[in-house]
Amino acid sequence: MICLSLIAATLSENLRLVARYAAYVDMLELRADYLLHGERAELDRFPRALPPGRSGAPLPVILTVRARRDGGQWHGGENERRQLLLHGVRGGGYRYVDLERWLRGSDAVLLEAAAAAGTTIIRSAHDFDAVPGNLARLLDSGSCPGEIPKAAVTPAGSSDLLHFVRTVSALPLQPRIAVAMGTAGFATRVLARRLGSMLTFCSPENIDTVVAAPGHIDPETMSRLYRYHSISGNSAVFGVIGNPIMHSQSPAYHNRRFAEDHLDAVYVPFEVDDVDAFFELAELIPIAGVSVTIPHKQAVMRYLAQRDPSVTGAGACNTVVRSGAARGGWKGYNSDVPGFLEPLQQAAAAAGWPELRGRRATVVGAGGAARAVVYALLRQGMELLLLNRTLDRARTLARDLGASGAVRCACLDDSAGREMAGYADLIVQTTSVGMAPDAESDPLPFYQFSGAEIVYDIVYTPPLTRLLQRARDAGCITVSGRKMFEAQADAQYRLFRELQLADSAPRQ
Ligand code: ATR
Repeated sequence: MICLSLIAATLSENLRLVARYAAYVDMLELRADYLLHGERAELDRFPRALPPGRSGAPLPVILTVRARRDGGQWHGGENERRQLLLHGVRGGGYRYVDLERWLRGSDAVLLEAAAAAGTTIIRSAHDFDAVPGNLARLLDSGSCPGEIPKAAVTPAGSSDLLHFVRTVSALPLQPRIAVAMGTAGFATRVLARRLGSMLTFCSPENIDTVVAAPGHIDPETMSRLYRYHSISGNSAVFGVIGNPIMHSQSPAYHNRRFAEDHLDAVYVPFEVDDVDAFFELAELIPIAGVSVTIPHKQAVMRYLAQRDPSVTGAGACNTVVRSGAARGGWKGYNSDVPGFLEPLQQAAAAAGWPELRGRRATVVGAGGAARAVVYALLRQGMELLLLNRTLDRARTLARDLGASGAVRCACLDDSAGREMAGYADLIVQTTSVGMAPDAESDPLPFYQFSGAEIVYDIVYTPPLTRLLQRARDAGCITVSGRKMFEAQADAQYRLFRELQLADSAPRQ
């Protein structure tokens, strides 16, 4: 179930939010700690004022007045908070009321009122710093008979997330709410059903960028992009690993493609700070395949049982899928290689080049992304100048690719313009300079375009970087990183789809 946390200051604004999201939600949580003082008197009548939910039935509502020590907005005293909860529960319209674990023993009047009103207790515990060692006990319904246990905890990184998933996967199938908050836990919000949580919490989009808890997204994105209601225990799980990762456009791309192809698969971002822990998690969930982005494109290589030549050649891997008949091991690909070349070949055709062979190019940058670019260009028979701020890194890249003789390396400084003059059929920019939020920066401020160059910037936010704008103004043919993003994502998607179709085909 998708549960929308209502965090507006007034009941009428909350009603407006329910109407806005009714098509996507199954349940509501009224966060009365966000309400203005004058609004509280009417809260007992709120559930009866609601429109029906997506099934046509009345929307069940949780009443929550979250204390500040549990991440809430309640500024009043404890006695006043209980009076407000009692007022709401006695109104009879709330299906659930959230009571914190530490209230136990001092909430007899509330329990009595809840029993009389037919309201079920959600017994909640919060940890905004860690995944506590006693998580299993917090989620054990035996520890709160007749109540629904809830734990919202905060993984600091991948090994905490592994601990969370391992713990919830071992619990018996009983109603509970288990949430891993923050960016490191985000995947558990999308996979909540699969991990045995009866609901996932969402927040309205953009209420002054406030969300009810770290990691919430809006119900429409959860329902339409992540197809929450159709993710089951059988759905194949794919994802993208990187750090940071929440800005990635890959979930939007791959989930859209899975939906178009009617495949029972979902694609989730995983913020990964420990690749070992992630691969353990990948066995536990289990995960069928992942896209790999900064900074893990080299680190994942040691987990590969098989490597496509694009991985061996570029010395970097951006796609990992399960391989082999038993799907035991992992196979790596580098879809940046075909993804980079496809738009370049189109631009070369537009420029009237019969082929890339023999053309001379400058590649700016010598990081992970440059590896795939240099490998792809060398395979096309181009001659290269590799410019990098740190010259040694450029030399190491050329050596790693077995191309020390074929690639000229130089320092990216004001004197590089002279070097570039001999390598200016194509200029490829692979550094992060010019990428939002650094969109005003130009990695080649000293270089004057003649208008004859093809200029390719692999940065895709913004789609038109300052460098590309200057090149375009000079009359150059330009290629945006957006094209590369789409071409590499398409190549990657075809690998995911192949795997998914093979695994969902009926066995003989
Ligand atoms: P990616 O996988 O995106 O290539 P990376 O491996 O961290 O990321 O590489 C970043 C590239 O951008 C490197 O070439 C880096 O230059 P250094 O090797 O000298 O660090 C380059 N880069 C990053 N910031 C830069 C800056 N402000 N000026 C010039 N080059 C920069």
